[in-house]
Amino acid sequence: MARTRIGVVGAGFVGMTVAQRIAEKQIGDVILTDIVEGMPQGKGLDMCEAGPIERYDSHVTGTNSLDDLRGCDLVVVTAGLPRKPGMTREDLIDKNAEILRSVAGKVAAAAPDAILVMVSNPLDIMTYLAWKLTNFPKQRIVGMAGVLDSARFSWFVAEKLNCSMQDITAMVLGGHGDAMVPMPRYTTVSGIPITDLMSESEINALVQRTRDGGAEIVKLLKTGSAYYAPSAAVAAMVASILRDERRILPSAAILDGEYGLKGTCIGVPCVLGRNGIEKVIELKLTETEAVALRKSADEVRKGIEHLKL
Ligand code: LAC
Repeated sequence: MARTRIGVVGAGFVGMTVAQRIAEKQIGDVILTDIVEGMPQGKGLDMCEAGPIERYDSHVTGTNSLDDLRGCDLVVVTAGLPRKPGMTREDLIDKNAEILRSVAGKVAAAAPDAILVMVSNPLDIMTYLAWKLTNFPKQRIVGMAGVLDSARFSWFVAEKLNCSMQDITAMVLGGHGDAMVPMPRYTTVSGIPITDLMSESEINALVQRTRDGGAEIVKLLKTGSAYYAPSAAVAAMVASILRDERRILPSAAILDGEYGLKGTCIGVPCVLGRNGIEKVIELKLTETEAVALRKSADEVRKGIEHLKL
């Protein structure tokens, strides 16, 4: 049986930590690509050399050629510029769309059967653009954002309640932008909704901090954006897909009528399995939640219109 092959496009902080986490979890071999000569090769070699100590057998091969993605079962696309302090994710749209246009066709040609996991920002818009550029079935285009935003929400809840992070499951829906929709009703500690454990104003403060979660890190780092939590989120999604775990994880999906939305892409709970998005779960939303989700979807739609596809 052939070994599972996972491509990672872009070997910056997010791409390289994605490769590391995938190797350490032994999900498969990683092909790490970047345009900078020698850099992905150096990082790949370094990760192979860590294998005997960390006891993993995944090979990480660096390359400057997207052709080397041939036969990949899944490709994670992180290529693009990160935010600088003061920038919104949407400020990256033109530059990152240009970068995606230069790589998507080559990725699709080299790995026509792959599932794409999109990471570049603005996430929902880039996920939609990847769908248009590759013509892949929408089940095979998945955007990473909800797992990250939910993890941030979980950490803020754990910190506030002074309890373990391990027992928390959170749910953040909508676009990966300032209008994202954290769902307190579906955020629980050992099954107990946080609405039973915290006041409304405490929850609202954590919701707002989650919405600003990416910017909080950018402001501290000054020269780039987050990568530890984003790469952990990607690795969880990749494992669920390639090991057919069928976890229900909030993911950016191209919608075709679900939640009353069509021809757009936002974060919704998805069953992630070997075919990619096996199922979109449609939750019964309250009026307030539905309004917030529509508002978030509107923001994404504006970005998609801006691309003039
Ligand atoms: C974040 C950026 C990368 O949320 O979108 O950290």
